Amino acid sequence: MRINAFRYFLSPNTQRSAKAVHPELHPETNSAIMGVSFLSINCRADTGYNYLFNNASMNEQTAFKPCDLVIFGALGDLSRRKLLISLYRLEKASLIEVDTRIIGIDQHEGDNAGFVEIIRKSLQEFLNETIDEQIWARYAARFSYLQIDLTQLDQYQLLNNVVDGQSRVMVNYFAVAPFLFTNICQGLAQCGVLNEESRMVMEKPIGHDLKSSKEINDAVAAVFSEKQVYRIDHYLGKETVLNLLALRFANSIFTTNWNHNTIDHIQITVAEEVGIEGRWDYFDKTGQLRDMLQNHLLQILTFVAMEPPVNLEAQSIHNEKIKVLSALRPITRENVAQKTVRGLYTAGELKGKPVPGYLEEDGANTDSTTESFVAVKVAIDNWRWAGVPFYLRTGKRMKYKRTEIVVNFKQLPHNIFKESFQDLPSNKLIIHLQPNEGVEIQILNKIPGIDENIKLQKTKLDLSFFETFKNSKIFGGYEKLVLEAMRGNPTLFLSREEIEQAWTWIDSIQDAWAHIDAAPQLYAAGTWGPEAANELIARDERAWEDEA
Ligand code: BG6
Repeated sequence: MRINAFRYFLSPNTQRSAKAVHPELHPETNSAIMGVSFLSINCRADTGYNYLFNNASMNEQTAFKPCDLVIFGALGDLSRRKLLISLYRLEKASLIEVDTRIIGIDQHEGDNAGFVEIIRKSLQEFLNETIDEQIWARYAARFSYLQIDLTQLDQYQLLNNVVDGQSRVMVNYFAVAPFLFTNICQGLAQCGVLNEESRMVMEKPIGHDLKSSKEINDAVAAVFSEKQVYRIDHYLGKETVLNLLALRFANSIFTTNWNHNTIDHIQITVAEEVGIEGRWDYFDKTGQLRDMLQNHLLQILTFVAMEPPVNLEAQSIHNEKIKVLSALRPITRENVAQKTVRGLYTAGELKGKPVPGYLEEDGANTDSTTESFVAVKVAIDNWRWAGVPFYLRTGKRMKYKRTEIVVNFKQLPHNIFKESFQDLPSNKLIIHLQPNEGVEIQILNKIPGIDENIKLQKTKLDLSFFETFKNSKIFGGYEKLVLEAMRGNPTLFLSREEIEQAWTWIDSIQDAWAHIDAAPQLYAAGTWGPEAANELIARDERAWEDEA
């Protein structure tokens, strides 16, 4: 097989130039860089905020060893919108090991200079800040480009010319469609470039059901051991999702009240303003259930519902998450209509501007019945959560971008404040995951005054993360996860078993929907979803937080 015009060359000076353009960070090789990263980690660890970065499961041996970060699909959407942007931010924070190199692989013909130009354009488009020329010079010097047709196994030999397995850890980031995962694994195995230290990073969708997920995981397992595999859910890189561990397991007021004795029900909402964003084809084959609920919402759910892990090591956390996932009561063909809602947005208005409906988006097939919204009433069959429903909902083109958890505590058994409230409102803990990250507790308070009667008012104890931690730099999910993959810390990544448990439960819904031929309920863009989602929770005499 002829290798297409091979115009790649890796600058032999990459390593030297990276140091040269950034001399102040390189007095004695890496120590300054490491000093900077330790400093920032420790500062934040002091606040108790970034605990997972200091955890014992980090592989000390390779934690700061330089990497050859190989991005498969370097010119694709995921790479340009997220990875290259996150890596720039890490560069800016001096968190990338000074000798780390980044090798972009894609099927298109190109050279280093062309690749660097594309990176620059991506930053201009997606960074949302002015490019710092000094940082850029340092950043750009790390990159090289290699053209490989990922379906042609013999072309992977080219990697041997560029990857240095002796002094660097090879971190393979699969930023491509899952149908290529098997090819890449085989190509890497065949060309002999991997060693025991090598890692692979992959993202959802890992399959579209349990069967296909197992196939992908099997293909990966044939080449990489489980400890070399880093499965990303970018929600696990979000500070506020991680903060759930701190909130729950470092505060006795929550620890002792976190069960069916005190909690009435819990709502988890991941509402998006965005529509399909030019991804109609991908999304239409996927739908909101697989795109968002199978991963992000179930991950949030596991953090909310899990038992206390014995420590913060990856395995301990995985164990507890798996227990939650395996306790999810399956949705059946008999109860799916009562317990779930599928929705689809029609044209509407968002922030005062008209937006098209799902079926009018670019590239749409007007016969589609894919859901852009899903709501589910979930039961967790274990001791802690017996009788406590979890209501989950997520949708595109909803009224606002809002990701939040609302923990509704039980009503008190007797009301002595009837003058103020016939029905005493119950306490709520609202955890705002994004935007306006923070934690809010709704309580009842006496209105100050010398009236004869005590009058109550609903009030809030409000903790805004940005106000409270204004001196801490808060990184986005991708930044954190890419850095952890380079460091070799598996804590924030998903295990195979977690993914497969999640698919088992999602498959039960998918099967039931197919069986009853559930057509999506329409909702106008810019609303909170179809009326049926309100009815789902209203049947239990409850309401979503935005309606409550
Ligand atoms: C991705 C989904 O995983 O998460 C997208 O594929 C979705 O459809 C996105 O829009 C939401 O992420 P975030 O971080 O904006 O909430």
